[in-house]
Amino acid sequence: MRALSQSTTEDLDVAPRARRRQPTARSLTGEDPALRAAYRLCRRTTRRHDPAIHALIQLMPAVLRPAGWALWAAANALDDLADQRDAGPAERAARVEAWTEALQRDLAAGTSTDPVRHALVDTALRWRLDLSGLRGAMAGTRDDVRDRRFADWAAWRAWCNEGIVPWVDQVRHLFEQAGAPMTLRLDQRDDYERFVNGAQLTDILTDLGPDLAQGLLLLPQEALDACPGAEDDLRQGRWSPAAAALIGAMTDQARRWVTRPAMTRGMHPGAATVLNTSARLLRAQLDAVEATGPALLERAPHPSLVARARILAPARVRSRLAWSLTPLTVPGPRRPAVEASGPSPAAGDTALRPPPPHPDGARPPRIAADRMPSHVAIIMDGNGRWAEQRGLPRSEGHRAGGAAAHEMIYGALEIGLRHLTLYAFSTENWKRDTEEIATIMEAIRRDLDEGPIRDLDVRQRWSGRPDKLPEELVQALVREERRTRARTGLTLTVCFNYGGRDEITRAAAALAQAARAGDVAPHLIGEDDFARYLPHPDMPDVDLLWRTGDERRTSNFLPWQATYAELYFTSDYWPDVDRRDLWRAITEYGRRQRRYGAAPLTSPQEPPSAPSRPV
Ligand code: IPE
Ligand code: IPE
Ligand code: MG
Repeated sequence: MRALSQSTTEDLDVAPRARRRQPTARSLTGEDPALRAAYRLCRRTTRRHDPAIHALIQLMPAVLRPAGWALWAAANALDDLADQRDAGPAERAARVEAWTEALQRDLAAGTSTDPVRHALVDTALRWRLDLSGLRGAMAGTRDDVRDRRFADWAAWRAWCNEGIVPWVDQVRHLFEQAGAPMTLRLDQRDDYERFVNGAQLTDILTDLGPDLAQGLLLLPQEALDACPGAEDDLRQGRWSPAAAALIGAMTDQARRWVTRPAMTRGMHPGAATVLNTSARLLRAQLDAVEATGPALLERAPHPSLVARARILAPARVRSRLAWSLTPLTVPGPRRPAVEASGPSPAAGDTALRPPPPHPDGARPPRIAADRMPSHVAIIMDGNGRWAEQRGLPRSEGHRAGGAAAHEMIYGALEIGLRHLTLYAFSTENWKRDTEEIATIMEAIRRDLDEGPIRDLDVRQRWSGRPDKLPEELVQALVREERRTRARTGLTLTVCFNYGGRDEITRAAAALAQAARAGDVAPHLIGEDDFARYLPHPDMPDVDLLWRTGDERRTSNFLPWQATYAELYFTSDYWPDVDRRDLWRAITEYGRRQRRYGAAPLTSPQEPPSAPSRPV
């Protein structure tokens, strides 16, 4: 790393050429010495603990680097707390929790006495980062104090995606804010997650020896079982043929995962250089793991300085050129905490409010737990006819329909529904005239920006294609997804520019690609494996599918998830319904007998269990 250090300066100044073109980090931190010291500490920590990450951050534009150091140092601070060997698991979990809670308070206050949090809070407020997306990852770090075991790759990937992806997402968001987006098309998401999985697996292989010394072997049982005897040998510090075979297979797996040439297609060349260089460094790291062999049990290997310089030198040239051609958006003066994009985690908790009551004071019926659907999906139909009936333009129907959608969300929260999915615009709805389409787009964008559900306990998600949608709408959908991802009340999925066949086709394409890359064996693909390639693999099957507007068809809505849904059709036009209609639908659902292919039951009180599906 010496070569790298020599090319950078020790303080927050940047190379003279960049200083001429872009504001320097010093100009961002102003004359606040505590803040400058905080960022400097973050930078030193990054360089000391992970020179490769430090080198990657150096490939970012100078103005973004302090944010990169702050994010990395914060993740590292939490990991350190979870790993401290001077305390038992409960104490370590409490320390992680205390750090996370302190961060929430610091975000609300806009500053911190802890230098790493000081830098992180400044980064979040300056770049309008919504750190609430990190809450799940922080909770995961807290739970990591206990020995983690994973039955299979799916569980392992879920752990990795929950723990690492949100941090990488923050970096992606940083690039977006600076105007050099690491835009990912929906069909590249899987590549992106695989890449992060590959980086995590590389880390685990690198730290195999030190981890084993602490009794940790962070590989899924499925992988360990494939090499009988390897687990015992490794845990007892024996480098047997089985252990070597296991590590060889894991190294190959990691190499396949970090090799994702399609991932950076269409990305800003500077951002693409950071990711591609990261992939090369990871592969060099895997070469080092492979070359180390039995000594892996004693020490963490690293690529040689020469190997690293060979990757970094051309990357530095490429990234400098790419950034010099891009005028970056630099944030204005720091906004106070309350104005930061979305509520801070603390504000998020305290600012969450209950849904407004029904104007007539109607309250939800009591539904027995075993009669309650988990997932209600609604085809909100009849807006156009509602308007035409009143001599109004169809667009008025869509405006009125927005209020009915809010009512459903209030009703779902009040009755305690877990998942609500609303069909708002289909891939077939582009056949309508442009003015009508524009009204629908505008209504949803306004709702995302200032609608009444923003501060309810609703995790919002979007399902559909990004193409043809206005860029600012896509940004708003992604932003709300990120802002609300840690909420636990109701999961609301808005299907927008959604087509069921399209969703299945894309999942099939992603699966085919995975098969080609050797990640899945085609003859072993089952329904659950397929479902994992859907855009929201955690979406449970639809229990109740309700369509308003007096039509009896499903119009390309959730064909995979709704194969066993109870269908419910009503004749009211959508703008005329309110939360009481949802409660009625749920009550009617409770009377249905679901059989899933079994013979009719003698007692309608005991429905058979649903076929198992991952949720
Ligand atoms: C449903 O209402 C909303 C969308 C499809 C966007 P419609 O616009 O289909 O209303 P009708 O069926 O024409 O009455
Ligand atoms: C389905 O309604 C789509 C939405 C509600 C968003 P449509 O009104 O477009 O469906 P069809 O064309 O009548 O089947
Ligand atoms: Mg319709």
